[in-house]
Amino acid sequence: MNGLTPEQLAGYSCKRDIINRNGLVLVPANTPLAAGHFHLLINHGVDWNTYEFEPPRVQTNETLVTKASETIRGMFQLIRDEKRIPLEEINQSILPTIYQATDFPNLFSVLSGLQAKDDYTYRHNIGVGVISTLIGKWLQLNADDLSLLSTAATLHDVGKIHITDDILNKPGKYTEQEYEIMKKHTIFGYEIIMNSPNVSPRMALVALQHHEREDGSGYPYGIKGDQIDYYSKIVAVADIFHAMTSKRVYKDAMPFYLVVRQMQGGGFGELDPAICSLFIRRMMELAIGNDVMLTDGRQGTIKAVNPFDLVNPLIEMDGGSYVDLSQNTDVNIVALVG
Ligand SMILES: [Fe+2]
Repeated sequence: MNGLTPEQLAGYSCKRDIINRNGLVLVPANTPLAAGHFHLLINHGVDWNTYEFEPPRVQTNETLVTKASETIRGMFQLIRDEKRIPLEEINQSILPTIYQATDFPNLFSVLSGLQAKDDYTYRHNIGVGVISTLIGKWLQLNADDLSLLSTAATLHDVGKIHITDDILNKPGKYTEQEYEIMKKHTIFGYEIIMNSPNVSPRMALVALQHHEREDGSGYPYGIKGDQIDYYSKIVAVADIFHAMTSKRVYKDAMPFYLVVRQMQGGGFGELDPAICSLFIRRMMELAIGNDVMLTDGRQGTIKAVNPFDLVNPLIEMDGGSYVDLSQNTDVNIVALVG
């Protein structure tokens, strides 16, 4: 027993997961405690004085991302077992980490921490949650709308809990039949969320529509333009960017400049052009001062972004010389380096 109050324990973390009597992780190990966590612990009847706590310490991006990915894994298991969305647990355990990641001074090191290791499915959900939240902040959504968008984005692929691992993790191209099964994750996700009490139907729409495209070329229904919910359009941009810039068992990460070029050119199906250009512009502005890897193998630092040619900024090379990528069509950015 250490007998500390929530006020005294703010920012402290526990070396092991804090769980309820059913074994559900309420606060993952090494999570700094906030007021909301204590509210959750009280609701679940957990006596935190039976746990040992450590004073606050600086977290690395890697632990931030790994922690959130482990939490979402637990949440998805709970959704499968109990057939409900644990909204309060998501609000308390996942959203604060996602917000923290979007506030991080070096966003690109967070994004590179989100690069799939052996747990792509979970890291991808967090990655899409982080990128969608950033877009929501740039669109100046109010706090309630932002929290709805962040939660919807984090749950966008929840329907994959009903897709078997051999299809989910297949290290190659899908057969037509496998692709038809895979596409059903959108409908499964919609049904899981709609059947869950007290969850906004808009979250269900994001699960259903995040693969729909502006020109009707998406799935599951091939709807277009205004028929697609705005949050689904935001999550579609975040989903494509994270999926394409990530390395998978069966493919390398696609070079950054190609991802952006194809996003703008309809190479992944037509995305909302306003959301897409806002995302690319703000991301490139944020990337000023950041290191990049170029297609010729050299590294440099982004010094200035040309508003008329966003993905071809001015780069200061390691030796001190400058390369203006907008004037040099042979060299492009492979990756932003965190
Ligand atoms: Fe999906």
